[in-house]
Amino acid sequence: MAEQRGQEHLHRAHQRHAPVRDHAEVERLGANGIAREVERGHELDCGDERGKQREERRRPGGWPDGVSPSRAGVGTTPGQPAWTPALPDFPLEVLTRCQRAIGRRNACSEGPHFDRILARHRQLHDLARPLVRADYNHALDVWQWIVRLDRGASLAVQIAALFHDVERLASEPERRVEHLAPDYQRFKDAHAREGSAVTHAVLLAAGVAPATCRRAAELVAAHERPSDDREVALLNDADALSFFSLNSSGYADYFGPEQTKKKVAYSWNRMGPAARAKLPGVRLRDDVRALLDEVTS
Ligand SMILES: [Fe+2]
Repeated sequence: MAEQRGQEHLHRAHQRHAPVRDHAEVERLGANGIAREVERGHELDCGDERGKQREERRRPGGWPDGVSPSRAGVGTTPGQPAWTPALPDFPLEVLTRCQRAIGRRNACSEGPHFDRILARHRQLHDLARPLVRADYNHALDVWQWIVRLDRGASLAVQIAALFHDVERLASEPERRVEHLAPDYQRFKDAHAREGSAVTHAVLLAAGVAPATCRRAAELVAAHERPSDDREVALLNDADALSFFSLNSSGYADYFGPEQTKKKVAYSWNRMGPAARAKLPGVRLRDDVRALLDEVTS
């Protein structure tokens, strides 16, 4: 009974969006205004060429170095007064929170082949189970971080993002156990190794090219350790960013502050400079923000 209550609580925590800072401003913007801000912020932050071109039309000559157009305010029409976002951080925070629903792809993941991989990945997850649903959402979110961090991300690393935590379907579908591990890194290494074997078998059976299966499995196997391999580092970055942007508040509710502080430190230490630079665009709940400040101070 207590465990069921805990799961329901976790489920609600994962479903809950962080509170918005200024409700009156959000009401004033309305759904269309918010959608416009989110779309614009997403295109710009992802380096989407269409977004860049649109911004270029709005502001011929481009933007000064270090200025993020989505935060600086952009003119909607040449010659018109500059448009300034009512909530400067809001577009990025919203898009980041819901990016799993956007499903942004690149040339390597366009088309029916990747559709089939997504469908096979979805089949593995029983979304009626709260922890499995959380893992499924996290997998999609990590994939989206991959494409956001690297617009040229390979097919193998995008697949690895989807499957990197697939081992949890066997070990943690009903309750989490990572806080019980006497040696956390060893626990994570075993998780990566076993997930790699599952990834390889599932992909091969799904008709994915053997070389892609091997590379995706290799990335999953390596994803819990720092690496000089650029794609392993990318997967580490995306996984850690997804912890902060999507999972951290639910994690804190489930595990409590002591374990969350360890996880925050672990995640921070996995991230390279490019990933850490994305954190200001991530909305963190106050308790998680305080732990991050503590860990990084
Ligand atoms: Fe993960």
